Amino acid sequence: MNEINESAATDLQQHMPRHIAVVMDGNGRWANKRHLPRAAGHKAGVGSTRKIVESCVKKNIEALTIFAFSSENWNRPEAEVKALMSLFISTIMAEVRKLNKKNVCVSFIGDRTRFSEKLQNSINESEQLTKDNTGLHLNIAANYGGRWDVVNACKMIAEEVRDNKTTIKDIDEDRFNSFMSLSGLPAPDLFIRTGGEQRISNFLIWQLAYSELYFVDTLWPDFSEKEFDEALDWYAGRQRRFGKTGQQLLDDTADDTADGAAAEASH
Ligand code: FPP
Repeated sequence: MNEINESAATDLQQHMPRHIAVVMDGNGRWANKRHLPRAAGHKAGVGSTRKIVESCVKKNIEALTIFAFSSENWNRPEAEVKALMSLFISTIMAEVRKLNKKNVCVSFIGDRTRFSEKLQNSINESEQLTKDNTGLHLNIAANYGGRWDVVNACKMIAEEVRDNKTTIKDIDEDRFNSFMSLSGLPAPDLFIRTGGEQRISNFLIWQLAYSELYFVDTLWPDFSEKEFDEALDWYAGRQRRFGKTGQQLLDDTADDTADGAAAEASH
């Protein structure tokens, strides 16, 4: 790679999110529009999920976290919940075998104990099969809720205090985060929600604190790689401040450039 391409590639990578979180909304409406049962929308949604996962692999994205089933989704009509469970069982192992060949490491977040033994087995097998893979980290949120995640972390940390493994004084944000789902990964840089609603719906409420939020009207089964690229382009244009002012960020960039030039000159 020549120098210009190398610097363009580095620049591009800097503007690429390391971790993307997605709420795949709109399957039901996609099916309704076609006078099909809602389950047909979920089935069609698997195609979009596959395309976006493959696109993340191609782009060397570090992590993708998708919301497959929320803790509140149990309240849906029994037939739909049943159809979703069957879809997960029939899809997970087949897809994960293919993902394994692409070096994808698959993990599930959420309370899996409420799932059938069959589904829990495919979840455990998927994780076991791909645990040493070093490519994309694909996290599937299943029976997951952001509030559940926070309460779960509180319970674990309370147990540590009770067992004298930690003290209240030692609890800070980093320590707390270590008990949350996805703690080994950078927090999501970009959150995408399809289907037109503009809310987080109890997804990663702790982890999304500083994420850039992108909402699009397209229903999930229609969400294409081109639209995914548009979301990434939008992200590349965002200025991430993390509480600082715009001027401070410009000064930081100028300092980094000066440091880089000084290091270059000293070689
Ligand atoms: C929300 O759309 C979607 C879901 C609750 C299910 C998402 C699941 C998939 C796309 C399948 C992914 C498969 C695997 C194996 C991870 P909705 O039903 O709320 O749509 P609506 O808002 O139009 O009713």
